Order: sequence, then C-alpha cells, then structure tokens
Amino acid sequence: MSAESDKAFIKQFSIVLVSLVVFTAIIMGLAAILHGKLEPKDNPARTAAKLDRLAPVAGVYAGETGRAAALAAAQASQPQAPAAAFDGSLDGGMIYDNVCSTCHANGVAGAPEMVASAWSGRLDKGTEALISNAINGIGAMPARGGRRDLSDEQVAASVNYMLEVIKR
Ligand code: HEC
Repeated sequence: MSAESDKAFIKQFSIVLVSLVVFTAIIMGLAAILHGKLEPKDNPARTAAKLDRLAPVAGVYAGETGRAAALAAAQASQPQAPAAAFDGSLDGGMIYDNVCSTCHANGVAGAPEMVASAWSGRLDKGTEALISNAINGIGAMPARGGRRDLSDEQVAASVNYMLEVIKR
C-alpha cells in the first residue's frame, strides 16, 4: 500500500462519514419539524389531574359561586349510571338474539341448545329456578349471560322466550 492510496482512502472515507453525519442531521431536523406540526394530543387523565391540582384546597361554601354549588355542579356533570341494557326492553327474543344465543344457539361451553332434548333434566326445576340460575349464573354460564346491565326482568323475559321456543 502506498502512502498515496492511503491518503485517497482516508479522503473518501471522510467524505462518506461527513455525508452520513449531514444526512442524520437533516433527518433529525425533518422529524423535529414534522413532529411540531402534529396536533398536541389532549390527555384527559392529565387534564383531570391538572384541574385537580388547580382546584382550591378550601373554599367559601355559601353562595352561588361557593364550593358547595361548585361541587353540586361537578356532580351534575358526572356521567350518569349506564343506561339499562337495550333501553330496558323486555323483548325476550331480542335479548336472546343479542346475548344468550352466543352460547345457547350452538351449545358453546356446554350450554343447552334450543331443542327440548337438551333441556329435559332442566325443565323439571321449574321456570322460577331456571330464571334464578340464569340471573345468578350456573356452572359455565355467567350471571345474566355475562351482561351485568340486564335487569332481573330482562333475564326472566329471555328465559321465558327460550322456554317458549323449546316447547314449540
Ligand atoms: C357464555 C355462554 C352463555 C351465555 C352468553 C348464556 N348462557 Fe345460559 N348457559 C350456559 C351454560 C354453559 C349453561 C349450562 C350450565 C350448567 O348447567 O352447568 C347454561 C344454562 C342456562 C340455563 C339453564 C339453567 C339451569 O338451571 O339448568 C338457562 C335458563 C340459561 N342458561 C339462560 C340463559 C339466558 C337467558 C341467557 C342470556 C341472557 C344465557 N343463558 C346466556 C352458557 C351461556
């Protein structure tokens, strides 16, 4: 290797290195610019925590702008308890289609299918017991078919629907 070719190599290698550094800087710059253009995401948890920190520690309780009124307003703006499932509908067939059929149409997890033979031992318990088991869960069947927002009446309506279909 001659000193001449060493020099040429070092020169070329330096050019490559420098251009890589420049390229990196350009990419970083571009990324920074693009990132700056993104809409800042609103983080509800952070906003809530911030509002909490900003809230006065103590306050005047009386009056329209007092803390009592503020608390009442805050409570009023809390989300209401979730509405009853299916707007409280007592349409057993509809509830069956939406909830119970997941398992009972095809015998998933050993659920009795919608044929009389699958229910032979169960019908003897009586409708009340079947309804109560559907509400509280039995074996692999989750309480209320896994829909905790179903009311007792809604579960009863769907059990009655199922029994009607089976006995048809
Ligand atoms: C996740 C699957 C699943 C869903 C969803 C489901 N069931 Fe069941 N169900 C089962 C299984 C499994 C059994 C059998 C449990 C056992 O006897 O061990 C069963 C049994 C029953 C029984 C008979 C109980 C008894 O005492 O013999 C009734 C009635 C019933 N289900 C009604 C319903 C109704 C009404 C719904 C909808 C609101 C529903 N099920 C949704 C799985 C399900």
